[in-house]
Amino acid sequence: MKEQLQKIYDAAKADLQKANSISDIEDVKLKYLSRKGELNSIKKNLKDLSDEDKRIVGAFANEVANNLETEVKAKYDEFYKKELDEKLKKEKIDVTLSGKYVQMGHVHPITQTINEITDIFHTLGFSVAPDKHSPEVETEYFNFDMLNFPQDHPAKDMQDTFYTTVAPHVLLRSQTSGAQVRTMADTKPPIRIIAPGRVYRNENINSRKNNFFHQIEGLYIDKNVTMADLKGVMNEFLRLYFGASRPTRFRSSFFPFTEPSVEIDVECIMCKGKGCRTCSGTGWLEILGAGMVDVNVLKDSNIDPEVYTGFAFGMGVERLAMLKYAIDDIRLFFSNDERFLNQF
Ligand code: DAH
Repeated sequence: MKEQLQKIYDAAKADLQKANSISDIEDVKLKYLSRKGELNSIKKNLKDLSDEDKRIVGAFANEVANNLETEVKAKYDEFYKKELDEKLKKEKIDVTLSGKYVQMGHVHPITQTINEITDIFHTLGFSVAPDKHSPEVETEYFNFDMLNFPQDHPAKDMQDTFYTTVAPHVLLRSQTSGAQVRTMADTKPPIRIIAPGRVYRNENINSRKNNFFHQIEGLYIDKNVTMADLKGVMNEFLRLYFGASRPTRFRSSFFPFTEPSVEIDVECIMCKGKGCRTCSGTGWLEILGAGMVDVNVLKDSNIDPEVYTGFAFGMGVERLAMLKYAIDDIRLFFSNDERFLNQF
């Protein structure tokens, strides 16, 4: 039996010698040292021996098993190190390589401008009207009639305003001014709101005009509100948005829903003189209309003009952005050109 053990040991050593990989070594371990391996099957026969032989052969069997285990482990360690070295050599990592660039989206410049203007009006005590007061699909009633537009006003014409086929008199709003009427319908003065949003006009598209753009409407109604308040608030807004050194001017104007009315121009910074396509060579670009809320509008909204007065304004967001960042073509905002958008 001892001889048999010696033979197994020799065979195991020979197999180990031949082993060429960690998996070969594991095969040797399985063949000789596992529970069902060759050494164990010999050990099972020990019970047939005399006590004396049991002791001697048993001790020898243990010695063989221990030795084999030590040798397997040594070989295993050797191969493990070798395979690891090879792997490390093959899978070299260049830590100086630059990482993968993750492209992050960001807020559109028009939304950025709306946010900036909204922040300014927050500091001046205005809050944003709820969405229900400022729908994009609007009725003729709120977009025009309640704002004192006469029935035959040219703006009501299909040439200027997009009408829907949803129902008669339902249109894509041409101005955010309807938000004034909707606010007055369910809010008691004092009122101090702004309403930003998209508006639509049937325009010939060029560098200054698009068939949709954005406005921010404003309404301030309280006792004793005067034209001086209008000028004060507008000038403060212009100073906070453009900085104190930017030339601006008030011009008298006309809107059906304000009396008196003004328009505010800002000096053109894209101006290349006579040929400037942004300001048509005038040196100024109109950015907002404003005025004292017309008595008829107050009355129609059940606000007593003997007690309350107010001013309203509506500004063009694209124009304000163009004049701040020297953008000479409104179409750039809507072209989704990353070379343009990534500058913001
Ligand atoms: N809604 C006007 C427009 O689109 C702008 C405007 C003018 C708004 C005077 C106002 C205002 O609230 O008082 O041209």
